[in-house]
Amino acid sequence: MKLSNFQNRVCIVPEEFDVFLGGGRGGSKSFTMLALALRHCTEHGNKARVLYIRKTYKGLADFENITMDIFGQLFGKKARYNGTEHVWRLPNGGYIELGQLESARDYDKYQGRSFTLLIIDEAGQYPTPELIDRLRSNLRGDKSIPIRMVIGANPGGAGHHWLAKRYVFKSKPWTPFKDEQSGRQWVYAPSTYRDNPFIDQAQYIKQLEASCPTDKELLRAWLEGDWAVARGAYFATVIDENRNAIDPISAIPDKKDGWSSKTSKWNHWLTHDYGSSAPSATYIMLESPGASIGEQYFPKDSILIIDELVTSDPVALNEGLGYTVPHLAELIKEMAYKWDIKPAGVADDAIFSNHGSASGSIANEFSRAGVTFRRAHKSDRKSGWERMRRMLEDAGKPDRPGLYIARNCEYFWATVPYLGRDPRNAEDLDTRQPDHSADAVRYGLIKPDYPTIKPRLIAL
Ligand SMILES: Nc1ncnc2c1ncn2[C@@H]1O[C@H](COP(=O)(O)OP(=O)(O)OP(=O)(O)O)[C@@H](O)[C@H]1O
Ligand SMILES: [Mg+2]
Repeated sequence: MKLSNFQNRVCIVPEEFDVFLGGGRGGSKSFTMLALALRHCTEHGNKARVLYIRKTYKGLADFENITMDIFGQLFGKKARYNGTEHVWRLPNGGYIELGQLESARDYDKYQGRSFTLLIIDEAGQYPTPELIDRLRSNLRGDKSIPIRMVIGANPGGAGHHWLAKRYVFKSKPWTPFKDEQSGRQWVYAPSTYRDNPFIDQAQYIKQLEASCPTDKELLRAWLEGDWAVARGAYFATVIDENRNAIDPISAIPDKKDGWSSKTSKWNHWLTHDYGSSAPSATYIMLESPGASIGEQYFPKDSILIIDELVTSDPVALNEGLGYTVPHLAELIKEMAYKWDIKPAGVADDAIFSNHGSASGSIANEFSRAGVTFRRAHKSDRKSGWERMRRMLEDAGKPDRPGLYIARNCEYFWATVPYLGRDPRNAEDLDTRQPDHSADAVRYGLIKPDYPTIKPRLIAL
């Protein structure tokens, strides 16, 4: 296998360093991965255990064909492939498994198994890093050989934000840096089609232009391998931990109760985004009367989010726990009682529609279980997002209502700052991502006024 200058340069990076192949389309990332796998097997013989991962079976089949081609040329019949298990055994004893990983359930295939080189291709297709982080626990083996992770991605995908944050904007290309998450040293190795002498470059540009005719930014990301394209996270310019994060509080100060019309007290309500196979997210919101908590003053009408209840798989942030409404209602009541408030608030409109089931709408079911929700009128997503962005941006200003989120709202902090834009509509979020926390917050903010929840006004 002949290698390009770029591929040779990647091969020179010592195996002690993990590598992020984060370049444009056609920059020869996948072939480079194959070269790294081959070299690993050549050097470590039967101690080498390589796992190459793609999100989809289709992607895996593409790579499988490449291995057939290259290994056939290199080893002839001496390399054996088990098509059922997707495993190559090379003449030098090396083991290369081609695997698919899309959901937490798929991960079971790898649970408890060991690999010495883990390769994740097209990592940009993963909206969050959980599954990939989980795979890292499979990276272990004979102490005499280095273990390593190699990740490849194009900019502009669903995982653009977490990849850019972790691997791109850390240090200059080819200069090692430490990734806090893994504690490992990484090298960012970018390439574009121009680094690939094996393709007809002029033809390749035409092909890419044809594949994204209406999306100039994506085309630029693919051609230039540019991670700074305007696909930056949706809230990137308005959210800042220093301004928006507040320390957890232990009780609601000077709570407004029931019918109280006193404006000097803190109003409060729940806001909820429903999900069962997807996560549900519930938050407690406080509205400042223009008062301080501890040292910090919150201008009138500022919103503080003080507690969260999210039913998500701890590994896959976009997968729910499958809870029934009564079960969820119990958990919501528990949270409300802990704060000594009524389990009442706003929720997305969808739960009010009657699906013809005997139990009526989901909102009815909640109501019977003691949790009352009003419609958030979420149909206008755009003004909801605008309001949320403006309040995030205004946090910390002495005279403007801001949006503040307690640090104990872990799911919020793990997801909202990294959510990307909808590739087809830059004013909206990409809904393939774990947007449940963002949605719940949007519902809670969208109401033009926030009356203290009056039970008789709750239309169900
Ligand atoms: N060492 C090599 N020898 C022969 N051909 C190569 C080599 N490296 C790359 N190529 C050719 O370049 C093409 C693009 O390379 P590759 O698929 O690795 O790019 P990529 O960066 O993974 O692209 P994408 O972003 O579309 O996934 C391959 O299909 C192959 O034809
Ligand atoms: Mg590729």
